Amino acid sequence: MDTPLLNATDIRQRIWLELQRAVQDRHHEWRTPVLATVGADALPQARTMVLRHADARQTALQFYTDSRSPKIEELEAHPSVALVFWSKRLSWQLRIRAKATVQRTGAEVDAVWTRVSQTPAAGDYLSAKAPGDLLMDETSSNTSGGSQHHLAIVTLQVQDMDWLELARTGHRRAVFTADHWEWRVP
Ligand SMILES: Cc1cc2nc3c(=O)[nH]c(=O)nc-3n(C[C@H](O)[C@H](O)[C@H](O)COP(=O)(O)O)c2cc1C
Repeated sequence: MDTPLLNATDIRQRIWLELQRAVQDRHHEWRTPVLATVGADALPQARTMVLRHADARQTALQFYTDSRSPKIEELEAHPSVALVFWSKRLSWQLRIRAKATVQRTGAEVDAVWTRVSQTPAAGDYLSAKAPGDLLMDETSSNTSGGSQHHLAIVTLQVQDMDWLELARTGHRRAVFTADHWEWRVP
């Protein structure tokens, strides 16, 4: 879809609108961005995550994960992350750099767990084994666990956004920080 008349303010607002839509709409292409971190071995790591919350006013995004997954230790050691979103429908790529914080306990985690525990996804956070653990043999693949959940919330405070629009009439690219924006060569 062409968006010829969008100016920088419109683009910033529209980016946040699409992020919020992606949280609500399981078919939105921005629902499953790739989150890149610095691995425990100081090499890059990246994985797909489901976007759970987008707060335009706080410029923050949230994801849920198992608190025992390797990415949690990576985030605590190196909170700087990058996210990549691509939407064919919009012809938009969005690259975000952000600082991560992890909540393993507290009122917000309790509130999210109360909601998630009513859904089929609850099992993702109840397994006896931690994500990435070795499966010792093919018969020990039963990872169903107890009642203790391992849900953690990862909150990303956005630092900058690099927006790229592909269009036959000419690609456009703009970089946004909290209080500044500029056009860039695509
Ligand atoms: C479509 C899709 C959505 C996913 N969503 C999540 C998610 O929301 N949270 C999560 O922890 N892992 C999610 N995963 C699994 C991760 O990509 C990854 O395999 C897992 O979290 C282990 O990552 P780590 O070893 O870097 O901690 C998803 C995978 C796919 C394919």
